[in-house]
Amino acid sequence: MTVTPASREALAIQGGPPVRKTLLPYGHQSIDEADIQAVVETLRSDWLTTGPRVAEFEEAFATRTGARHAVSFSSGTAALHAAAFTAGLKAGDEAITSPLTFVATANCVLYQGAVPIFADVSPDTLNLDPEKAAARITCRTRAILPVDYAGHPADLDPVLELAERHGLVVIEDASHALGAEYKGRQVGSLSHMTVFSFHPVKHITTGEGGMVTTDNAKFAETLCRFRNHGISSDARQRQSAGQWHYEMVSLGFNYRLTDIACALGSQQLKKLEANLAQRRKIAERYTAAFREIPKLVLPAVRQNANPAWHLFPIRLDGVKLKAERAQVFRALRAENIGVNVHYIPVHRHPYYSERFGYRGGEYPVAEDAYERLISLPMFHGMSDQDVEDVIRAVDKVISHFRDAS
Ligand SMILES: Cc1ncc(COP(=O)(O)O)c(C=O)c1O
Repeated sequence: MTVTPASREALAIQGGPPVRKTLLPYGHQSIDEADIQAVVETLRSDWLTTGPRVAEFEEAFATRTGARHAVSFSSGTAALHAAAFTAGLKAGDEAITSPLTFVATANCVLYQGAVPIFADVSPDTLNLDPEKAAARITCRTRAILPVDYAGHPADLDPVLELAERHGLVVIEDASHALGAEYKGRQVGSLSHMTVFSFHPVKHITTGEGGMVTTDNAKFAETLCRFRNHGISSDARQRQSAGQWHYEMVSLGFNYRLTDIACALGSQQLKKLEANLAQRRKIAERYTAAFREIPKLVLPAVRQNANPAWHLFPIRLDGVKLKAERAQVFRALRAENIGVNVHYIPVHRHPYYSERFGYRGGEYPVAEDAYERLISLPMFHGMSDQDVEDVIRAVDKVISHFRDAS
């Protein structure tokens, strides 16, 4: 039997057979029997919310990330909102962040009536460029929100130095980076506040959920109050003290994470090391397979970083590759590879461009990257065959477009 070179095979988009029969998503949760048991036990217990599972999850999370405090929230977005409030952001303030992120990073600044100011990203990691951030500091700047894009930690030392010099609060959006390390130190223990998300595509999941870690006891207290309507004690504290009295001392929300979700979170956290190891293995296999393909730019890993690999974003070298990104994207989807794009730069969304007058071209590194980015499937539940399928499909599609150019 002769093997057809990948480049000669008809693409699925042209009517050829797809690499896979079923769609491989770009991200997916892994839930096992221990997870289900933990949830069921909690459903049978006295506390569905504001109970003992919450503190258990928070303590385990603080221990894992090396932070003094961890405060849970109903989502990563709620956690970002709470961190923006706790940093003291208010009308008239500015906060600097990356344009290449999920909209929630910038939206939390708007929730507080402040203005997000974007600074361009570094061309290698696509993380906030500290020099560009420094150039955007004004007397109104109160916070900086670096984002650990795709799970690669932002360049935190220069950002923290800037913050120190200008009296700013650093809120790191580590929604992609649970388990990542920067200069041998754990993400979660480095910034004034670090925000995590437990959406199902992340390293661990609670369905929806989020966490803020901090070493600052005052911040932790404010975060706890903010997620509980601004009330100074919680229901369990009052019940155990036999008290009915409570006081609302600041404005807050109901952003609590339930005991059901926290029980799941504690179980999931036990599997974090295995999940990270699997993601790192997949990244190694992709890197080894794609290193030789000249038209692909693979995710950079700086020497001082150990990424958590939430995403594996490749960039098409559009100058040499004659296909538009959209064509390659559609061709990979037709092969049943669930590729995605992270992200449309925040300032290019209609809400931001209309409200703040962005026209495009303001952040050229992020905008150029966006035109070329494709996120390949990356999740700890991927089988060896899934990884093989992605490699084969990328090789097939890229070879086709290269040969056609
Ligand atoms: C960078 C980033 N920030 C914030 C969020 C918001 O997290 P959540 O979906 O838990 O609200 C996400 C979620 O995908 C994210 O990727």
